[in-house]
Amino acid sequence: MPGGTTVLVTGGAGFIGSHTCVELLDHGYDVVVVDDYSNSSPGALERVAKIAGRPPAAVYEIGLHDRRALSRVFDEHAIDAVIHFAAKKAVGESVDLPITYYDTNVGGTTALLRAMHDHGVHRLVFSSSCSIYGNAARVPLTEADPADPTNPYATSKWLCEQVLADTCRYLPELSVLSLRYFNPVGAHPSGLLGEVPRGTPGNVMPYLAQVAAGRLPQLRVFGGDYPTADGTGVRDYVHVMDVAEGHRVALEHLDDEHGMRVLNLGTGQGTSVLELVAAFQRACGTPIPYEITDRRPGDVPALVADPSAVARAWNWTATRDLTAMCEDAWRFQELNPSGYPA
Ligand code: UD1
Repeated sequence: MPGGTTVLVTGGAGFIGSHTCVELLDHGYDVVVVDDYSNSSPGALERVAKIAGRPPAAVYEIGLHDRRALSRVFDEHAIDAVIHFAAKKAVGESVDLPITYYDTNVGGTTALLRAMHDHGVHRLVFSSSCSIYGNAARVPLTEADPADPTNPYATSKWLCEQVLADTCRYLPELSVLSLRYFNPVGAHPSGLLGEVPRGTPGNVMPYLAQVAAGRLPQLRVFGGDYPTADGTGVRDYVHVMDVAEGHRVALEHLDDEHGMRVLNLGTGQGTSVLELVAAFQRACGTPIPYEITDRRPGDVPALVADPSAVARAWNWTATRDLTAMCEDAWRFQELNPSGYPA
């Protein structure tokens, strides 16, 4: 029961974290946020409070490596469950800074596990990624498909899953749900909360939004010769509101069984870059200039979820379609051309 239930959200000011905070507050949970603002800002949490009508119970500006400060958070709040988003997530950057990625993502996760264990907290929802599947031989992908991470970011998520699974093996009181998201995009329908990339966006949806707004001249479509229907990369875009809802529903299922469970979070619907451009044009009402260029190193042709395991386990599916993803992303771009106020 949410009433009086306190959830610690690491990375709660980030893109998926902030939307999840709204979802939790809307459903009666008390929320404690830990964020170092390394790729986010307090402005996101002000928006969270505005949308939900109440703020998180507490916000701590700390990194997970600050073990003393993290331990104090657990001392000060009766944490019932943890949702762990705080991590670095840029694939290209991870190739240049592998140690940083392992230190932050894997080291951050073990520091969190340590604090949880020391304080008798045994329930965790972990933010994992479809990038773990790497060069998929075929799509859609089930959770039983083999891992083949192709960059340090993806490997760091895979290593976290291994650490969590092994820890669960030896600590039977632990319950972990690892959610492998496909490509989260979109924004809160209010236009108040969305994705605020630092500098030029690396991901396609915020890039499209900035081209549509005239802030960037054109989209470069990375590769037109993939073995896909139109030659461009295919992804399973999933609305961030569905991803947020998925985390809230995950909390309700943490006690279904002990141990580690892995679930895909996607729609099962593959969309090519050109199909995404067409959908975004319809949403914003202006043509999006693009040119097809070389493939981006490290990209894979197609990643699409088989979402049936989560549907079976929770009787839950993602419901928002590509039109909603584009319209909501565009609304956020229009209302917040420079992101959140400083
Ligand atoms: C990657 C990671 C994913 C991670 C996400 C967020 C992989 C396989 N996937 O997703 O786990 O959660 O980043 O950081 O490691 N594209 C263009 N032009 C652009 C940008 C992208 O054509 O300017 C294309 C890409 O080639 C790809 C699609 O758009 O086909 C999606 O790219 P992007 O939004 O960057 O996400 P992924 O690389 O799929």
